[in-house]
Amino acid sequence: MLQRTDHLTKRYGIPDGFTLTRYLADGGYVQARRALSMTREELVNECKAANLRGRGGAGFPMGVKWSFMAPTVAPGRPHYLVINADEGEPGTFKDRSMMEGDPHATVEGCIIGCRAIGAHVAYIYVRDELHLAKDRLWAAIREAKAKGFLGAKPFGVDYAVEVYVHSGAGAYICGEETSLLNSLEGRRGEPRLKPPFPAQAGAFGMPTTVNNLESIATVPALMRLGGDNFSKISSLHPKEGGSRLYGVSGHVNTPGIFECAVGLTLRELIYDLGGGVKGGELLAVIPGGSSTPILRADELVEAPNESHPLHAWHGMSVLDVPMGVETFRGLGTMLGTCCATVLSDKACPVLAMHNLMRFYRHESCGQCTPCREGSGWLERLLDTIVAGNGTMDDLNRLHEVANSIMGNTICAFGEGTAMPALGFLKKFRREFEEYIRTGGRSSTNRLALAQPAAE
Ligand SMILES: Cc1cc2nc3c(=O)[nH]c(=O)nc-3n(C[C@H](O)[C@H](O)[C@H](O)COP(=O)(O)O)c2cc1C
Repeated sequence: MLQRTDHLTKRYGIPDGFTLTRYLADGGYVQARRALSMTREELVNECKAANLRGRGGAGFPMGVKWSFMAPTVAPGRPHYLVINADEGEPGTFKDRSMMEGDPHATVEGCIIGCRAIGAHVAYIYVRDELHLAKDRLWAAIREAKAKGFLGAKPFGVDYAVEVYVHSGAGAYICGEETSLLNSLEGRRGEPRLKPPFPAQAGAFGMPTTVNNLESIATVPALMRLGGDNFSKISSLHPKEGGSRLYGVSGHVNTPGIFECAVGLTLRELIYDLGGGVKGGELLAVIPGGSSTPILRADELVEAPNESHPLHAWHGMSVLDVPMGVETFRGLGTMLGTCCATVLSDKACPVLAMHNLMRFYRHESCGQCTPCREGSGWLERLLDTIVAGNGTMDDLNRLHEVANSIMGNTICAFGEGTAMPALGFLKKFRREFEEYIRTGGRSSTNRLALAQPAAE
């Protein structure tokens, strides 16, 4: 259901929207001050009541994640809060909009988050090329510190909080939380084996919570409204609460970031907010960043069984299913970052998959053999097909290689490569076969994506 909200984006686009003056005029930092007089348990319960699912991709309940941190801080084992603003997922640009548009929401969220998990230090990990985002965050931290909202006694309360911005070098794998922690420590950005989980041994070997930037920037709003009220904004309450940032890009007329109540549909995102498909008809959507399997526009929901979570949508278009962590899992894909990439019927799915697989081969950190070698195999097989030299056997080989990456790597990068590959092959089998038969000289021809859609 399309319900625009402005709990997170009220100050977006306002000339001084990123300044402390404007943030305070809108009631900023009242919740941080309040949080410092609350117990950790009260804060965690508020977050649990909000039913906020992490906005970084996996959709894990944020309050539950906070509750994994040890209830008391052991001597010599400080707790850390780490904010993930690496945002390397193709098609995803929501955290950047937040850092640039309203950096104080993140700083205030960090104060509340630190209190909730027993930490005194928060690191915001931002990829290096986001210069404006980093500048705005640092400026916000300086302003908050000068006002006495950060430091040894924020708001005069004896609970020190410091927030730092840390630049990442710009590697997709460093968005994976344990690679991020390695990178933060100055090590190679390679994933760690879990367990131990970050809540047991994270940054510098200490108990750590890693939250996505949008997740933490939402905390002041959920505190202001109260967890329960915040949850009820969503049409998927109580499974998933609140409002969130939706992104849409690719072949749409008005790409951008829009804040809406949780439960928006892809049709609303593409046509009402994205201004409709640019230069053609809708072919398919990658729903939440390139790691999430593609949905065809002509797909219908198959949930004939009453116990199926999507039974209410049985026979309807996948475009009309509310976008939720669980609903999209039921569709055989993932909600991911909630930033959709739209493909018009002028796009060639073979070339789109080739483009994605080149990205994954380039970004594989190389630590796990199935991912390092498999992503290269996928790219080379697609090189052959795209060059017009592919065979039907190559399609089977693509399947085999993707399946041998799945489940055989330390981190989810492997699945993030294999799942979209398998999704393209399943949903566009006929187009792949046609491409191979005609050497790419078919209707969805090899030039289709190479040429940007007409302006
Ligand atoms: C390859 C890979 C890249 C990821 N990139 C990001 C990212 O850029 N930002 C992010 O918040 N989470 C990313 N994640 C998910 C994080 O590992 C982690 O789940 C998330 O930061 C937790 O925050 P949340 O619970 O608030 O969603 C990535 C995961 C993988 C496997």
